[in-house]
Amino acid sequence: MWRVVVLVVVGLAVGEELPEDFVRCRQKDPNLNDCLKAAIPDALRKMRKGIPALAVPPLEPLLVAAINIHSGAGPVVLSQNYRHIQLHGLASTILTTYKADLPHYRLITNSMTPKMEFIADYVMKGRILVLPIQGKGIANVTMVNLVVKHDLIGEPVVRNGQTYMHIREYKVKFLPKRVYLHFTNLFNGDKRLGDQMNLFLNENSELVFNELKESYEKSLSSVFKNVTNTIFDKVPMNKIFIED
Ligand SMILES: *[C@@H]1O[C@H](CO)[C@@H](O)[C@H](O)[C@H]1NC(C)=O
Ligand SMILES: *[C@@H]1O[C@H](CO)[C@@H](O)[C@H](O)[C@H]1NC(C)=O
Repeated sequence: MWRVVVLVVVGLAVGEELPEDFVRCRQKDPNLNDCLKAAIPDALRKMRKGIPALAVPPLEPLLVAAINIHSGAGPVVLSQNYRHIQLHGLASTILTTYKADLPHYRLITNSMTPKMEFIADYVMKGRILVLPIQGKGIANVTMVNLVVKHDLIGEPVVRNGQTYMHIREYKVKFLPKRVYLHFTNLFNGDKRLGDQMNLFLNENSELVFNELKESYEKSLSSVFKNVTNTIFDKVPMNKIFIED
């Protein structure tokens, strides 16, 4: 009984550890950026089923409860509510560049995800160019060869004598090579109108996506921030970026 209590107290005081099979990178390594560039995609693959010990959710798929998007200006005026969102493909992400500025708690990286599928229950209503659109069904927004620019701005949080690198702001920019959009049950299930609209959306997917991009970026960056902080708020910074 006493032993359990002591272990728990010690565990809290020193913080959690990264899973043993994660690659460790050292802060003083002159090739720290290269080390992280390889270590992070490796960690993402190992997070496919989540990390129960750290309460990190599975990445394949990553479940998100809800995202509400209201775009009010320009050629696309649309209110979209997504529920039961599944993001598929994140665990296959690779990093193309990495720049860690640990003294300033800043991480800047570019990634490439070969195929990211965003599948969700949707309700939407609005107008795209001159066409009214409305529906309630299942949405599939698939981004192929998706380059993402990540900018993580952190700050030190000291707890029980340990410094944690809490991510305060997580900015992303999405640059997909191609976007495929598909919405089931548009126009109350009118198949002809629905098929036409899906065709139209895909023929104009670059324009449509550019109008919606900022909203997706804002919503998904907060998802990425949450996932990062589930690790960074539990594992002290010097156990993520090893101090010699
Ligand atoms: C979503 O759309 C992509 C591209 O058209 C397709 O490859 C994928 O199978 C679709 N996913 C689902 C769950 O329908
Ligand atoms: C992020 O986490 C906060 C706090 O746990 C939660 O309120 C919020 O809904 C989460 N956001 C997303 C997009 O998952």
